[in-house]
Amino acid sequence: SDAATMTLEEREATLGGVGTARKRKEDVRFIQGAGNYVDDVKLPGMVFGDFVRSPYAHARIKSINAEAALAVPGVKAVLTAADLKPLNLHYMPTLAGDVQAVLAEEKVLFQNQEVAFVIAEDRYIASDAAELVEVDYEELPPIVDAFKAMDEGAICLREDIQGKTEGAHGARRHDNHIFTWEIGDKEGADKALADGEVTVKELVTYQRVHPSPLETCASIASMDKIKGELTLYGTFQAPHVVRTVASLLSGIPEHKIRVIAPDIGGGFGNKVGVYPGYVCSIVASIVLGVPVKWVEDRIENLSSTAFARDYHMTGELAATKDGKITGLKCHVLADHGAFDACADPTKWPAGFFNICTGSYDIPVAHVSVDGVYTNKAPGGVAYRCSFRVTEAAYMIERMMDVLAQKLEMDPAELRLKNFVQPAQFPYNSALGWEYDSGDYPTAMNQMMQAVDYAGLRREQAEQREKVARGDSRTLMGIGVSFFTEIVGAGPSRNCDILGVAMFDSCEIRVHPTGSAIARLGTKSQGQAHETTYAQILATEIGIPSEDIGIEEGDTDTAPYGLGTYGSRSTPVAGAAAARVGRKIRAKAQKIAAHLLEVAEGDLEWEIDRFKVKGLPEKEATMKEIAWAAYNNLPEGMEPGLEAVDYYDPPNMTYPFGAYLCVADIDVDTGETSIRRFYALDDCGTRINPMVIEGQVHGGLTEAFGIAMGQEIAYDELGNVQGASLMDYFLPTAVETPVWETDFTVTPSPHHPIGAKGVGESPNVGGVPAFSNAVIDAFSHLGVKHMPMPHTAWRVWQQCHELGLTK
Ligand code: CDP
Repeated sequence: SDAATMTLEEREATLGGVGTARKRKEDVRFIQGAGNYVDDVKLPGMVFGDFVRSPYAHARIKSINAEAALAVPGVKAVLTAADLKPLNLHYMPTLAGDVQAVLAEEKVLFQNQEVAFVIAEDRYIASDAAELVEVDYEELPPIVDAFKAMDEGAICLREDIQGKTEGAHGARRHDNHIFTWEIGDKEGADKALADGEVTVKELVTYQRVHPSPLETCASIASMDKIKGELTLYGTFQAPHVVRTVASLLSGIPEHKIRVIAPDIGGGFGNKVGVYPGYVCSIVASIVLGVPVKWVEDRIENLSSTAFARDYHMTGELAATKDGKITGLKCHVLADHGAFDACADPTKWPAGFFNICTGSYDIPVAHVSVDGVYTNKAPGGVAYRCSFRVTEAAYMIERMMDVLAQKLEMDPAELRLKNFVQPAQFPYNSALGWEYDSGDYPTAMNQMMQAVDYAGLRREQAEQREKVARGDSRTLMGIGVSFFTEIVGAGPSRNCDILGVAMFDSCEIRVHPTGSAIARLGTKSQGQAHETTYAQILATEIGIPSEDIGIEEGDTDTAPYGLGTYGSRSTPVAGAAAARVGRKIRAKAQKIAAHLLEVAEGDLEWEIDRFKVKGLPEKEATMKEIAWAAYNNLPEGMEPGLEAVDYYDPPNMTYPFGAYLCVADIDVDTGETSIRRFYALDDCGTRINPMVIEGQVHGGLTEAFGIAMGQEIAYDELGNVQGASLMDYFLPTAVETPVWETDFTVTPSPHHPIGAKGVGESPNVGGVPAFSNAVIDAFSHLGVKHMPMPHTAWRVWQQCHELGLTK
């Protein structure tokens, strides 16, 4: 064979399989500006839609007059709720079991809510005409503060479900109440808190933020009225789910709907849900018979599609005097905005928030979550995290610091003292999860050694003395965070989306000349799937990763899958890829036995070929086997070399990590400078170390953004503040700190190749590390907590209150 003279190492290198720092295949087009995003797609006869949006957070719509807009040359149509209502499309179902107005009918419930959809020959005409649509509003008092949503006598926001006492997740106590979700042992946790030698309680708020991908949301609907076929291009993290929902909503048979998600410029949860823009583009295309494109602008993206977080978490911990935690309680007030459009598996209205016992062996715990409506945009998406795990990690990692302060114990020592121990895995947490594998003490100790933790604490003590003496104006903070993620949703027994079980899939076809095409049900938004899935397959089937094409995002060709979010690609579709590879190899082995005229059992696998045991010169390479699959098969065997695998994982995977942040704070300006950030991640088997590092860099940068500057805030009238990049902090290379990365490897025992997800870990672990660092700088002065984001203005206020600066 052609590779006969290559050494084993050379063959491994040619294979480019699992563990190789292979360069990202997709970057060839991305760095040359040759990606194909939704806005690059131009169809013949295409027209453009733009929204008329509400200037008010809460108002009654008295009338809508579109005459002036319709008179503008180039305007094709103006859609309002009155047009959608006869089609029963003025409301659409949300992922959380609620309904959301596609176009507001009687009331608007948040600023920038969609009121009318103007369709015109070009985008500019549509925007200009949208300004001419006259909407007569009667202003109503808004509810902006979630803590006041359920006050007695608070105005009912959702008149469409007024008086409904049963919601999708159980009883509603108030017109503005969505659900109460409870888990754990309430009595036990109450008792632990009552009996605790030391107890702490703190309100920890994780502010409303937005994923703000560089590419905003977009769709193009193209209805072929002759064939009765709808093609929908869009920024979809889960294309198949969009197809199923589009079919259920429109009544168009599912085989006549083709959903295509081309290249996506970042998703981070923003592109999971279904938005009014998608529905309006579909309806408009059906009405007009031409393709209709809708693309959000930046302000629309930040203010109307998919907020994240907005959790007010009251955490309580009980511990012994020497720091062993004996119980946890947490109540969350969850601000879901005007419609409950949270993107979670159906049975989990608070996502996986019950991972909030974190990395600690907490014997008893109880969590309750109340979701409420306010006059804010809907969403509740997992911004680079797995369904509320970042909120959970932030709460517990803040509470650990609060407890350490009360115990006068070092925060790292408190964590070490309470870790779930390696021998306890698989570990059943008090709130119902089974952690698959972990070695927390090793990771923590490796981190502490790498950064010289003891040395940093000594330096901090000296620095504090200097500030006290007046010799320095810089406070030093050290932020420790240790997190456990929960990714890879999920086992279908407890995870589904609108009734569709959360499995995933991979299909592969090996061509006669020994290259292959594989298709998956996930959808990369920048995570390098084209590179890394090929690596998994290469290792399994012995075909170089360079010779395996990867496709996702076209529902006409890809097998059904639930998409990419919650770091589920590697744990679920990555597992399907490994398993489909094994199916190929099993058939290849039969063909090899035929070619070499031996029994199957006489063969052994080596990198890219089968060898006859004891006769190493007798071998059949995968290239030879692929050719034989099309012309020289054992008697009765089906030709070809293809397989498909649908994988329903037995459990989720639990990546973890130890992070440390060193911050220097100027007491006169409140400016924080991140001197050092160290991140150790354990994601089990590492497929591509370079891609992992890139994922960690990106996630840390977003964590930095969230902790230090991001907030979608509202004034008392419900006007959204921070809906442009003038106000909303998107870190650039100028602000972003330098990252130090490290790892340990604890494989997942149930994943076919032992891999866990990684994409979201740095967000989950990063946010508490930054926040703990800033607050730690003030902890010796008695400060227990400071709200995020830690902007210079906020931090300066803290300095001022403490009398550190005038
Ligand atoms: O679902 P999503 O792609 O966002 O997240 P992921 O499964 O964490 O994977 C993100 C990227 O990191 C993919 O390209 C993975 O192949 C890669 N990765 C890896 O190389 N090794 C791991 N153990 C986990 C992820």
